[in-house]
Amino acid sequence: MPGEGDRQKFYITTPIYYPDNRLHIGHTYTTVAADALSRYHRLRGRDTFYLTGTDEHGQKIEQAACEKGVPPQEFVDEMVGWIKDLWSDLGISYDRFIRTTDEEHCTAVQDIFAQLHSQDDIYLSTYEGWYCTPCESFWLESKLQEGNCPDCGRDVSWVEEDAYFLRLSRYAERLLQHIEENPDFIQPEIRRNEVVSFLKSGLQDMCVSRQRESLDWGITVPFDSDYVIYVWFDAVCNYISAIGYGSEEQSDEFNRWWPADVHLIGKEILRFHCVVWPIILMALDLPLPQTVFGHGWLTLGGEKMSKSRGNVVDPLILADKYSRDAVRYFLLREIPFGADGKYTERALIERTNVDLANDLGNLLSRVTAMIEKYTDGKIPTPDPQQRKDIDADLQRVAKKAVDEAAEALEQNHLDASLTAIWQLVSTANKYVDACAPWNLDGDEQQLRRRDTVLYNLAEVLRILAIAMRPYLVDAPGEVWRQLGLRGTDTAIEDTRWEDLQWGGLPWGIRIQRGEPLFPRIDPEEVLQMDTEEKAGTDEQPQEVEHLPAIDYDTFTEMELVVGRIVEAEQIEDADRLLKVVVNIGFGELRQVVAGIAEHYSPEEIVDQQVVVVANMEPVTLFGVQSEGMILAAEDDEGMSLVTVDETMPPGSRVK
Ligand code: ME8
Repeated sequence: MPGEGDRQKFYITTPIYYPDNRLHIGHTYTTVAADALSRYHRLRGRDTFYLTGTDEHGQKIEQAACEKGVPPQEFVDEMVGWIKDLWSDLGISYDRFIRTTDEEHCTAVQDIFAQLHSQDDIYLSTYEGWYCTPCESFWLESKLQEGNCPDCGRDVSWVEEDAYFLRLSRYAERLLQHIEENPDFIQPEIRRNEVVSFLKSGLQDMCVSRQRESLDWGITVPFDSDYVIYVWFDAVCNYISAIGYGSEEQSDEFNRWWPADVHLIGKEILRFHCVVWPIILMALDLPLPQTVFGHGWLTLGGEKMSKSRGNVVDPLILADKYSRDAVRYFLLREIPFGADGKYTERALIERTNVDLANDLGNLLSRVTAMIEKYTDGKIPTPDPQQRKDIDADLQRVAKKAVDEAAEALEQNHLDASLTAIWQLVSTANKYVDACAPWNLDGDEQQLRRRDTVLYNLAEVLRILAIAMRPYLVDAPGEVWRQLGLRGTDTAIEDTRWEDLQWGGLPWGIRIQRGEPLFPRIDPEEVLQMDTEEKAGTDEQPQEVEHLPAIDYDTFTEMELVVGRIVEAEQIEDADRLLKVVVNIGFGELRQVVAGIAEHYSPEEIVDQQVVVVANMEPVTLFGVQSEGMILAAEDDEGMSLVTVDETMPPGSRVK
C-alpha cells in the first residue's frame, strides 16, 4: 500500500453496471464510496481519474430489451440517460462514463481478443455446461448447488456449443505468486483468502464466446463472425479501453493512468476481477491493478439487495426525502467497509439526526449564534495570552482526526475515516460545554478568553468543512458560507488537504448565519406516513415460509444452557463481532464469537444471563476460536439477546 506521500496519481473504477433495470442503493453504495475516495485524492492534490459506466451487452440486456419490445441499443440508451441523471443528482464526480457500446471500446476488445488468440491464449473447443443469465456466468454441473447457480441461487440453462476458451490454467501459478507477493492486491484479507483457495482448487479454462445463433447482442469475434465475445470478457476490458488502450493516441493517456490504483467492486464479482481480469492483463503483458477491493453487500430483510430479488430501495426517493448528503453519509458511515451492512430507513434517519443534525448541525448553529451575539457577528481575534490546556487538547484532537482519517482513507477504509472525523465533532461539542462562553462576560480578560474560545470553535468548523469534502457535497460549502468564508480568497472548492492545518481561519470576517445544516427528522412521523401510504395500496400480507417440522428428539440434540457473560471485547477488524467468555456452569468457561457488536457494547453485556448452544462445533472466526452460540432475536430494526433471570444459575438446561 503506497503511503500518504508516495502516490502521484490515483485511478479508481467502479464495476460497470448492467443497465437492464434501474439501479438501487447497492450500486449507489459502490459509486458513492469510489466518489469519496476520488474526492479525497483530488483534495490531496493528486492527479485523479474516476471511471464508472455501463455494461451493455449480453443475454440479460437482450432479454430485457426484448421484454420491452425495443431494440437493445434503444433500450440501453434510455437506461443510461437515467443512470447519468442519478449520478448527477447524487453529486458523483466521475471523470469518464464508459459504455461498452462505445466504438473505441468495441475495437479495443476485438484487438485484445485477436491478440490473445494469436498467442494461443484463446482457442476453439466445445462448451457443455450451464449458464446463469442474471449473473452472466458459465457453470459446470459439479459446481451447481441443488441444480441452481451457486452465486445467486437462480435457475440455470443448458448450453452446448462450439466456443472459444481463455487459457486461464496457463497463468494460475503466476497469479498465485503475484497474490502472495502483493498483499494489497486483493483486499480485504478475507477476499484474498477466498481467491487463493479458489485458485488452489484448480483453475479450468473459461469459455469466452457465445454462438451468434444463441446470442446476437455482443461484440463480434473479429476473425469469426459466427461468434460474439462473452460479456464478462468484453466488460473487464473497459478498465483499459476507457483510458485509451489500443487507440493511436494510446501511450500518453494510457501510461498516465495504468495500472489502476483501486478497482472497487462488490464481493460477488471477485472471481472476474481477481482471476480472469489479471490473467487477461498478464497475457497482454500489462501490469496488474494495485488493489481490487471487494466490499460487502447492503442487505434488506437478511438478503442481498438486488434487482432480480426485487428487494431494492430507490436512491432518488431517499435523496429527495432526506437530502443527498444524508444518503451519502449514511452509506459511508453505517456499513463497515468490506463487510455486509443492513439497510433500514430507520437507521438512516437515526444517523442523520444524531451525527448530522445534532452533533454537526448543532455545533455550527451554536457557534454562529454565539459569534452573532458576543462578537458582533465577526470571527473574533484569538489571544495567545488566553490559551489554556483545553485549547491545546482541542487542537491536538483536530490534528489526530485529520491524520487518522487520512491513514484510513489511504487504505480505503471509509467508515473508519468518518469515525475519526466525528471524534473532532464530538470533542468540539464538549469543548463548548466545558468552556461555557456564555459565562465569560466579566472583565476584559474574560472577554478575551471568550474571543479565543469562539475563534477555536470557528476554526474547528473550518477544518470540518474541508475534511468533509470527500464525503458530502453540499454541507461543506454551506458551513463555509455560514462562517463567512465564501467572500474570501479561498473558495471551498479550491481548498486542499494542507489547509487542514490549525490556524487558517482569518479573523474579522463577518459570518452569515443560515438555516439548520440538517433539519431533524421525526422518524415516527415519516415512517408512519410510509405505513399509511402502504396501507392505502393493495399490498397483500406476506406469507411466511416455515422450516420443515422436526420431532422432539431432534430438538433435544441441541444443548441449550444458561450462561453468564463474564468477559466481552470487540474483535479487531470485525466490526460486527464480539469475543465473549461465558460461564456455563459447573466450573466451565466457554469462548464464543457473537455477531452482536452492532447492537451491544462489550460493557453492557457483562453479567447478563443468556442462552448458549453448548454443543456447537468449534469454528474459527477472524482468528478467534468460537465454541458455542448465544441466542438473540433479530429483525431489520434491531436485536435483543435472549436472557434468563438470576433465579436460574449458569448451567441450567433450557428446554
Ligand atoms: O455485476 N450491496 O453489474 P451489476 C452492495 N456488469 N453493492 C451492490 C449491491 C448490494 N446489495 N448490489 C449491487 C455487474 N451492488 C457487471 C459488472 S464490471 C467489469 C461488470 C454493486 O449491475 C456492487 O458493486 O450487477 C456490485 O459488484 C455491482 O453493483 C454489480 O452490479
